[in-house]
Amino acid sequence: MKDLLDSNLQLFIKSLLPERDNLLLTMEDYARDYHISIIEPEIGQLLKFLVCVTNPKNILEIGTAIGYSTLWMARALAEDARITTIELVPQRLQVAESNFEKAGVIDKIIRINGDAREIIYELDEVYDFIFLDAAKGQYSEFLDLTSKLLKPGGLLVADNVLLNGWVIDLKYPERRKKTMVYKMRGFLEELKENQGFVSSIIPLGDGVALIWKKG
Ligand SMILES: C[S@@+](CC[C@H](N)C(=O)[O-])C[C@H]1O[C@@H](n2cnc3c(N)ncnc32)[C@H](O)[C@@H]1O
Repeated sequence: MKDLLDSNLQLFIKSLLPERDNLLLTMEDYARDYHISIIEPEIGQLLKFLVCVTNPKNILEIGTAIGYSTLWMARALAEDARITTIELVPQRLQVAESNFEKAGVIDKIIRINGDAREIIYELDEVYDFIFLDAAKGQYSEFLDLTSKLLKPGGLLVADNVLLNGWVIDLKYPERRKKTMVYKMRGFLEELKENQGFVSSIIPLGDGVALIWKKG
């Protein structure tokens, strides 16, 4: 889907995004320079839209990296709302914290370093919005783990679900990506069958799944 990503349609959608401030642009440059994967800006705009529309009080994010997606959500958040974000790599979380300071949103964000598959068991809150953007081969596992933390009527958003289009015909550029591609395809099939959720796949960016837990 890289070809699709670069298609005229995707470029046109990008051209219609509101201007981003220097901090977001600097974070995009940093991610590019250090080969850190972050959401596309149009997914940032979608997250902002969804947070504005659903007005969540408690967001859980899995996969902070340098805090780019967190910042998109934090800026759209109500004054009394909070985001808990989990990141495996401590150096990345440090960069994210510095970005949250610069943006003046650090008080809204609870930062946790560690493997979300373990941390989740220690969380004693429920969330009305979850953003899933961690290891792509673990989405089914995370759906299972996080659905217990998601309030009925809550929304789970998962990024990169089309995996450059590899999930369509189960092709992958290198053998070590095979398991990830098959697991993501399994995750998408699971969404189709799961009676506990209503979901929709949006072919924006690298593909995003909107998953609503029935109320
Ligand atoms: C795609 S990046 C996140 C990008 C970020 N959401 C953004 O758009 O700004 C995925 C991140 O998830 C982290 N990660 C992968 N598996 C994880 C796990 N099991 N628990 C916590 N973080 C994990 C990786 O270290 C990586 O920084």
